[in-house]
Amino acid sequence: MSTSYYIWPNEVHFGYGTVAKVGPSAKAEGATHVFVLADPGVVAAKLVDPILASLQNAGLAYTLYDKVEPNPSDTSVDAAVAAYRASGADLIVGVGGGSGLDTAKALMLVAGGPADAKVAEYAYRMGDKARPCPKVLPSFIAIPTTAGTGAEATSWAVITDPVAKMKFGVGHPRSMPTIAIIDPELMLGLPPFLTAATGMDALSHCIEAYVSKNWNPMLDAMALQGIRLIAQSLPVAVAQGDNRQAREDMAHAAFIGGVAISSKWLGACHSLAHQLSSLANVHHGLACSLMLPHQMTYSLPGAIERYAAVAEAMGVPATGSLRQRAERGIEAVTQLAKDCNLPTRLSDVNVPESVIPAMAKYAYTVDSNWWTNPRSVNEKVMEQLYRAAF
Ligand SMILES: NC(=O)c1ccc[n+]([C@@H]2O[C@H](COP(=O)([O-])OP(=O)(O)OC[C@H]3O[C@@H](n4cnc5c(N)ncnc54)[C@H](O)[C@@H]3O)[C@@H](O)[C@H]2O)c1
Ligand SMILES: [Fe+2]
Repeated sequence: MSTSYYIWPNEVHFGYGTVAKVGPSAKAEGATHVFVLADPGVVAAKLVDPILASLQNAGLAYTLYDKVEPNPSDTSVDAAVAAYRASGADLIVGVGGGSGLDTAKALMLVAGGPADAKVAEYAYRMGDKARPCPKVLPSFIAIPTTAGTGAEATSWAVITDPVAKMKFGVGHPRSMPTIAIIDPELMLGLPPFLTAATGMDALSHCIEAYVSKNWNPMLDAMALQGIRLIAQSLPVAVAQGDNRQAREDMAHAAFIGGVAISSKWLGACHSLAHQLSSLANVHHGLACSLMLPHQMTYSLPGAIERYAAVAEAMGVPATGSLRQRAERGIEAVTQLAKDCNLPTRLSDVNVPESVIPAMAKYAYTVDSNWWTNPRSVNEKVMEQLYRAAF
């Protein structure tokens, strides 16, 4: 007998044009002054403009904060908290990819706590020594502009400690965005490389969640549907950025991935990928794409039926032995990355070979995503997987 534990999103608006709901939604939450947080690229792409217009139409004051960093550091979150407190705002709107949404989510968590709190004190890895999640948090509206991380549907934020060169997670079921507004219109201008890399992040979420050791059967069908949508629509979204159906499918798949990992968690691919970002500066989604086929090959004996189902969702005909089908699914993942013009080897993206032992050590000893991997790992396995991907 198994038990399961589910963490679900709150209110969600999905579809073209839904961004216009941000003003009325913020007002309905009782906001008077809104803190809008984004990275400079998202502001330059004019993605905050319809949000500010909607807030203005609703008669709400706002402060725009554009200092979000890629792979946000702990100090950048603490700076955002100070700016939020100084602004006198009473609701947070986070706009962007995972970096913007994670900064906003971590801000929500820290701003709900004591005035001297720092984000690093909430790190999950600190266990009982971490500060507890505050009972009451400011309202947070998440508006994704990439179809990748699914951070609009998770209660976790991934923050970088640049001194220790590692990523850490903060969060609690209470730090789920209060409202998510998922409008594919905001994703139509995402350039091909970022479309591909973030889409492969979403694929790795759906696959790692589907094969995870956590037992959450309600999410299995959703994860497979996410894989189907990505296999069909990611190459189209990369090839034709303005294809509205492909963008909508990818926005859905990324959302599904976020819901799935909230309860099913991830696997060793993410433990490996996080070190590639913190020690070798590789974009998160690309790092997942580089490691996923290798982690799948290694993990296959622990979940062969599930990997065969992944293959079928990827469009691989269900013929031959389970192993043959599962292996063809891994080939399909590699082919998808190639069809999206992504590099497939660590050496293609200037990762120095000399950094592999340190990455392997952190992937096993500091990162906890591998805990739900369907085949157990150790530091040596992590090193072998990096070397296989090199
Ligand atoms: N919280 C979670 O559950 C979760 C899950 C996976 C990853 N993450 C984290 O998310 C981060 C990565 O997020 P990401 O991959 O979305 O990238 P990102 O947020 O770092 O954005 C990458 C770049 O894309 C630009 N951009 C974003 N949307 C755009 C658009 N529509 N048009 C043009 N440019 C646009 C940004 O300006 C930025 O330069 C990492 O820090 C990763 O660890 C979080
Ligand atoms: Fe991810």
